[in-house]
Amino acid sequence: MGGTLIIDRAQFIRTAKASSGGKNVIAVVKNNAYNYGLKFSVSAFLEAGIHSFATTSMDEALTIREMAPDAMIFLMNPTYDLEMVRRNDFHITLPSLEYYYKYRDDLTGISIHLEYAGLFNRSGFEDASDMVEVINDAYALPPHARADIAGIWTHFGYADELDMQEYEVERKMWLDLLSTVMNTGHTFKYIHAQNSASYARDGLFEHHTHLRLGIALYGSRPYATLPASDYEQSMTLKAPIVQLRHLRASQKCGYGGSYEPHEDASIAVVDIGYGDGILRKRAEFDCMINGRRYPIKALMMSHMIVEVDECVDMEDEVILYGNDLRIDEFTALGVGANSEQLGALNYNSLKKVIINDTGVYQ
Ligand SMILES: Cc1ncc(COP(=O)(O)O)c(C=O)c1O
Repeated sequence: MGGTLIIDRAQFIRTAKASSGGKNVIAVVKNNAYNYGLKFSVSAFLEAGIHSFATTSMDEALTIREMAPDAMIFLMNPTYDLEMVRRNDFHITLPSLEYYYKYRDDLTGISIHLEYAGLFNRSGFEDASDMVEVINDAYALPPHARADIAGIWTHFGYADELDMQEYEVERKMWLDLLSTVMNTGHTFKYIHAQNSASYARDGLFEHHTHLRLGIALYGSRPYATLPASDYEQSMTLKAPIVQLRHLRASQKCGYGGSYEPHEDASIAVVDIGYGDGILRKRAEFDCMINGRRYPIKALMMSHMIVEVDECVDMEDEVILYGNDLRIDEFTALGVGANSEQLGALNYNSLKKVIINDTGVYQ
């Protein structure tokens, strides 16, 4: 039967509302909405009052457009299929001056957001002067022949790193650049820079029209000192026990005899493994059965060995993630970023169950 991913839809919506604090949000739904499921997440976000979405994938953007004809859909990667963009009224990033001049004619009427590289430096303009050049160039063209300079944005590379000073530096660089570009007199409909961590640290910056949130909307704290009650996790990952066995002291089990109890032990063989997306580092920590924590002793492709006691029965469920075993708890323990743990989950092998408002399983 394998592992099951359960999402409580009503809680997902409550969390999306609570974590964005009533501000305008562009929901980051890339990578299958952090693996909560693109269609599920977009429909729940719409219900939570969020009507702007960002992704890196054209396929995901097309799926969102089918679901939300009026939504603002922002493609964060440089995009070259501009006919598709125009047909679907997508907004796209403008990653450089070179891109602008190369595609200027094709960009006519398309909504572009000027991207600042900043310290993150994955993509984008390096300084304000090139952005100002784009604005001046566009205004020199007749209105029907120019791109719609709808937005300006950046992404911080250090907002999640509380122990590093660089966030203050990149924040200042961005705010200085923004004020220079705004001095042109051009009005942007979208000014967005802040991810979950930056918003938690600073609130919404002045002049910014939107937050651009991912992980907080999905119920994980961007860093561990924030109160968990503000970021309720709507997802539970569980798996059944396929066998209860006893091992004698020093009787090894697992590949290469990876688990060897020092004394006689009871073990549960659990129907989930790294093939389902359980990170090896995650398996260094406990799972939960009947509200009690038990250590995972070995991880295989489709199975896990858990050391249990006489309280555990075959019918019991083994919880890998849940409200008492939060993704962000394991992030703080060094298992990997929140999005890394979520992104690893295997949608092909895990069964997915959505609990809807009436408690009925879909
Ligand atoms: C460009 C961009 N903006 C916003 C986000 C959202 O970040 P977070 O999940 O930390 O809120 C991401 C996530 O990777 C991103 O790549």
